[in-house]
Amino acid sequence: MGERTGSKKDIDGFRPPEDFSENAVVNDPDIYRRAEEDPEGFWEENANNIYWYKKWDKVLEWEPPHSKWFLGGKLNACYNCLDANLDTRADKAALIWESEDGDIRQYTYQELLDEVCKLANVLKDSGIRKGDIVTIYLPMIPEVIISMLACARIGAPHSVVFAAFSGDSLATRISNANSRLLITCDGYARRGKVVEQKNKVDDGISSIELLERVIVVKNSDNDISMKEGRDVWWHDVMNGSDIVCEPEIMDSEDMLFLMYTSGTTGKPKGIVHTTGGYMVATNTTSRFVFDLKEDDIYWCTADAGWITGHSYIVYGPLSNGATLLTYEGAPDYPEKDRYWDIIERHKVTILYTAPTAIRTFMKWGTSWLKMHDISSLRLMGSVGEPINPEAWKWYHENVGMGKCPIVDTWWQTETGMIMISPLPGVTTTKPGSATMPFPGIKAAVLDEKGNETAPGEDGFLAILEPWPSMVRTVFGNEERFIETYWSKWDNRTYFAGDGAKRDDDGYFWIIGRVDDVIKVAGHRIGSAEFESIMVSHPSVAEAGVVGKEDELRGEVIYCYVTLKTGAEESEELKKELRGYADKNIGPFARPKQIIFSDDLPKTRSGKIMRRVLKAIANNKDPGDVTTLQDPAVVDMLTERTRELE
Ligand code: WT7
Repeated sequence: MGERTGSKKDIDGFRPPEDFSENAVVNDPDIYRRAEEDPEGFWEENANNIYWYKKWDKVLEWEPPHSKWFLGGKLNACYNCLDANLDTRADKAALIWESEDGDIRQYTYQELLDEVCKLANVLKDSGIRKGDIVTIYLPMIPEVIISMLACARIGAPHSVVFAAFSGDSLATRISNANSRLLITCDGYARRGKVVEQKNKVDDGISSIELLERVIVVKNSDNDISMKEGRDVWWHDVMNGSDIVCEPEIMDSEDMLFLMYTSGTTGKPKGIVHTTGGYMVATNTTSRFVFDLKEDDIYWCTADAGWITGHSYIVYGPLSNGATLLTYEGAPDYPEKDRYWDIIERHKVTILYTAPTAIRTFMKWGTSWLKMHDISSLRLMGSVGEPINPEAWKWYHENVGMGKCPIVDTWWQTETGMIMISPLPGVTTTKPGSATMPFPGIKAAVLDEKGNETAPGEDGFLAILEPWPSMVRTVFGNEERFIETYWSKWDNRTYFAGDGAKRDDDGYFWIIGRVDDVIKVAGHRIGSAEFESIMVSHPSVAEAGVVGKEDELRGEVIYCYVTLKTGAEESEELKKELRGYADKNIGPFARPKQIIFSDDLPKTRSGKIMRRVLKAIANNKDPGDVTTLQDPAVVDMLTERTRELE
């Protein structure tokens, strides 16, 4: 590597190929300077790419840590994703969808709008009004996108719960959001087996009385039970529903959706996103970062159940009139070349995926790739966790054939939009670095006291100024909002929870979470949330849960457990506890190791020291342990951990 740039400061890395730059949506580096000089002007200019019933009176009101964007503006997110495209794109494919067993469904913009309106009318008939939160619990089938947009159309915020979550996790989220309506399905295929989604729902919600209506998509052949008066089939209620539904006129600051995510304390928190700023932010970043053009076939492999799916499958790309490709299934079914096969058959031009997937492909080897012609690709992205330079280079060389720019995009559920990323026609990339903040974003690496760290020195990633799609609050828990994100420094600087450093060129290198959030294959899992579930098992007295670095998955879960008197350590119990995590959170959270122990490292006041457990799990020096109640516990746990390897 090491193509040099011709810019005033030479940077070692990969320059955007000239022909890419020439035609790129953004190819003038001056955009950074202009946005820095006048960030509000920058966002305002881009807000004109959105359709407003009434334009805003004011771009920003910043009363730290609260921001309002595009005040007084009126718009509808669904209108922007669908109706606004009809003039020029009514017959263009909005969505090409493929299932694991090879079914393909395609929707033009007009067809997608018709389905969305029909469902919007069904929701209204079920008594859903502006402001009512609807929960969606579906796999990556077209109905998940239709459901989100139908909610947005009538001003009902959606709360999408990732389909692999357990019924209990679903119930917690339904209760917190006070949802009266749920959209789910009977089941879905995974590697040829059926996941019984509706049964998970029934198990989970048996203890809550909240739901008045459950709409069930028929997606599989598994037997389910339907509760009289509450459960209805999607196809029954959609049949004959009117295809005209006027969009609700929403205020910029009306809630568009809730997205639950894990944090440092026990319960998942509902991140609140509003309409105007979010639409401007996702529309602009989609166009600039993914260089979206009229003929692109854009494939983001994320699930709509996570923020990536919200911002970069649904709202950003559709509001730009893109053609989406989505796939509901495993990457190795029926064989390990499924992704390359999809890219070849659908002529995918832009691929946005996660480091954990890239590392898996790397392990499977390039022979799977070589079976296919994937030369349609022109740009690739990465998101979810730090991408190690080896994986970046492999992706660049083998998938991108050495010619496609890579955008490593750092952002979070809370930021709503991509915050740090190359602009593919402008930025010289370095493998492993997310490079520079997006135009108009002011990021820094700070120390404990809030001073910027020197180049090369570790610190905390911070955002210094407000941005349009920033989290507005934690649903029903304003205190937690302030405490989690704003109280580290001065109540106006956003604390992201990530460690980072900058190099001599000012490039950002994200290291990973510095709080008690574990990232397993890009999925975000809270230590405290996990521990509180483990201790609800009748045999468990105490649990300490930490992430251990893993070559493929980024991190895996190590769960240290002390048992109640009378419970016996055994392989069966380990198995049972793993299954318990599965059942109560979801299979993606299955602990890699359960380690029984007579005691856990605790402070004198009895608090479990996860820092020490994490060091032990990762075979690192636990540092000063003299303040522990019983320092001998460290050696005992180290021994038990090493025995497993
Ligand atoms: C956390 C946020 C953003 C959508 C998916 C995850 C990690 C995300 C990167 C990246 C290094 C990354 C951070 C962040 N992360 N992207 N490109 N490089 N780390 O959203 O579940 O809210 O997780 O994911 O640790 O804080 P999320």
